[in-house]
Amino acid sequence: MKILVTGGLGFIGSHTVVELQNKGFEVIVIDNLSNSSLDVLDGITAITGEKPLFQKLDLREKNNVSAFFKEHPDIAGVIHFAASKAVGESVEKPLLYYENNISTLVYLLKELATKENAPFIFSSSCTVYGQADKLPITEDAPVKKAESPYGNTKQIGEEIIQDTCKVHQNIKAISLRYFNPIGAHESANIGELPIGVPQNLVPFITQTGVGIREQLSVFGDDYPTEDGTCIRDYIHVVDLAKAHVVALERLIDNKNKSNYEVFNVGTGTGSSVLEVINSFEKVAGKPLNYKIVNRRPGDVIAAYADTAKANDELGWKAKSSLDEAMDSAWKWEQKVREK
Ligand code: WQD
Repeated sequence: MKILVTGGLGFIGSHTVVELQNKGFEVIVIDNLSNSSLDVLDGITAITGEKPLFQKLDLREKNNVSAFFKEHPDIAGVIHFAASKAVGESVEKPLLYYENNISTLVYLLKELATKENAPFIFSSSCTVYGQADKLPITEDAPVKKAESPYGNTKQIGEEIIQDTCKVHQNIKAISLRYFNPIGAHESANIGELPIGVPQNLVPFITQTGVGIREQLSVFGDDYPTEDGTCIRDYIHVVDLAKAHVVALERLIDNKNKSNYEVFNVGTGTGSSVLEVINSFEKVAGKPLNYKIVNRRPGDVIAAYADTAKANDELGWKAKSSLDEAMDSAWKWEQKVREK
């Protein structure tokens, strides 16, 4: 069975390609290489022994999208990662984000609408909840006005899919709302490759650990939390990748309860920034150089998932601890720097 993975050379995409191949799926990857590199294909192949089909393609070019689907009528499902995902950049370049994250989704769905049967997995984010009123966050928590164009594209994306599925019953879709993906495959052949200065906490920590960055700035320790720093749900990227395969199989096996479903994908455990730093110091066996600075605008105080729906209905549960995820991130960082 051939599965299309858009953005399949990215951080979460590449780990999902590995898990799809591990489950016997044939994978074709499209990626415009704007935030990834062809080396990732070699990393995937080194792990599974099977090189995925690959086509460089920019989903903003709708004629090329149509041509691709005509060339591959046997695509049995789609997992859609391809999108821009930097919160800060989205504030400065909203039109780039609306074009790259929304127009591309519409072109993709127009192709799926012509297929007899189209299982579709959408990469969404806990960002849609903003600062939830209740913790842990359940799937029926209200979606709040996004704090950034990036977050808005995830909210709009979910609405576009929901409206489409109402009309095109042949499309069966699941939105997976990720919490904070971290870590790398245990082989350290693939992992997170932030371009430029990392925006996210864990890659900044590991780059500080190897000496690429001088010092980590902790954005505020005056929040109403136990140690004053923000709380997030850090999930191992391999656990997250496996959730995509389980969700796709749910649709292929017609186990879905409606043709549009939403699941939170997290560990269900919240960790503060200082706890993440402590985890690094434990696995690396050395102190991390950091300082407390002012808060970062737009940060929510705390966000962690209620995972009951994913555990009970999807039959999926995250397995790795924060330390195991951090250990894999640290191993990956050291290996990348050896090259
Ligand atoms: C986590 C915590 C920061 C960097 C974002 C997106 C989300 C998803 C993951 C795409 C916060 C603190 C961070 C640093 C710090 N992206 N921090 N110093 O903001 O929860 O989520 O990335 O899907 O959609 O919103 O993740 O890693 O940026 O921050 O103190 O140098 O670490 O303040 O409390 P975030 P993050």
